[in-house]
Amino acid sequence: MDRRYAQYREAIRGRVLPLAYVDLDAFDANVAAIAQRAGTMPICVASKSVRCTAMLRRILDHSPQFHSLMAFDVREAVQLFNAGFNDILVAYPALSTVAHSGLCGRLREGARITLMVDSSEHVDYLESIGAREETVIPVCLDVDMSYRFPGIYFGVHRSSITTPEAALQVWRSVQDAPHVDLVGVMGYEAQIAGLNDDVPGQRTMNMIVRYLKHRSVKDLAERRCRVVEALRAAGAQLRFVNGGGTGSVETTVQEAVITEVTVGSGFYAPSLFDHYRGFQHLPAAGFAIEITRRPTEEIYTCAGGGYIASGSIGIEKQPKPFLPEGVKLIAQEGAGEVQTPVRYTGPEHLKLGDPIFMRHSKAGELCERFKTLLLIQAGEVVGEVPTYRGEGLCFV
Ligand SMILES: Cc1ncc(COP(=O)(O)O)c(C=O)c1O
Repeated sequence: MDRRYAQYREAIRGRVLPLAYVDLDAFDANVAAIAQRAGTMPICVASKSVRCTAMLRRILDHSPQFHSLMAFDVREAVQLFNAGFNDILVAYPALSTVAHSGLCGRLREGARITLMVDSSEHVDYLESIGAREETVIPVCLDVDMSYRFPGIYFGVHRSSITTPEAALQVWRSVQDAPHVDLVGVMGYEAQIAGLNDDVPGQRTMNMIVRYLKHRSVKDLAERRCRVVEALRAAGAQLRFVNGGGTGSVETTVQEAVITEVTVGSGFYAPSLFDHYRGFQHLPAAGFAIEITRRPTEEIYTCAGGGYIASGSIGIEKQPKPFLPEGVKLIAQEGAGEVQTPVRYTGPEHLKLGDPIFMRHSKAGELCERFKTLLLIQAGEVVGEVPTYRGEGLCFV
């Protein structure tokens, strides 16, 4: 019997449910394991997969190897700078939000915040803001890292920059924009970093995914290298070349041009990151829902729980029942808007008022549902910290 159920239940006894928690022992172990996976490569922490200022600080405090942040919104980046962080890369292009974020004022104070571009239009837009504010805005060029097989698009649809020539075109726009400065290149290989390749019961699919990963790793390493070399040869002074995500650490850090690898999801280790061949992080974050009724002997209906993850719709986007061991969602109902029934036939004696522990399928989205994270260590609650939502922060 998994003793964590009894431990967690005891730890949160008497608290109002639902609540979200982080097991600090598992979290810290994940932080250490990620540092080890990255070898000596500096790590950029993806805030979207953490969404809690205190937990971001805990990661950066672990060691100087965790040296910068990747934010998902320019207002968030300014907020993080105000909270004492510096060196923040905003990983997605920002338009209307830039002028109202306070960014330029912070840049004039010495903030190291970099915005993302992938077109001359982005550059021109930022130039108009920089000129008005008399500030130079540092930018990073997002290079597409997807891979096209006949009939298969392996990757995500983000940047249109797929060749050195396309990158140089944006670089020429930057040269014509005195208030924009190109300081970095980023390429996110989503098809390596975010795709399970060791799913139980899916042997053939796992083999196909691994084959596609293997093929595309070689291709994207070459592409990233050619783009960076072309930009440098044309005079760009690049401070960093960013790549990767939780699932690609080992391959990303091997590329000679890479100067930092991004990791986010691995810290909480949500259920979408359970099935990778190369690593296994510990489930560190989750939420507890309260059993409020028992319609049949085997079914326990809980309040709350329907925290479905974003992205394409699939069963894997539901929360994953975690503890007690063996607890399952009911296919017809899933995790519901205000109630979630679960089936449980194991040895644990469950009563009304007891918790069922679940894990979100994605990392940071959990924090959009809860104002705080309860911190559990060695089976006891040792603190409670606000999530972005708890701080009143809502960006996308
Ligand atoms: C630009 C970028 N880099 C890195 C990541 C990797 O983050 P994680 O480690 O949370 O999968 C993502 C995730 O979507 C991303 O969009």
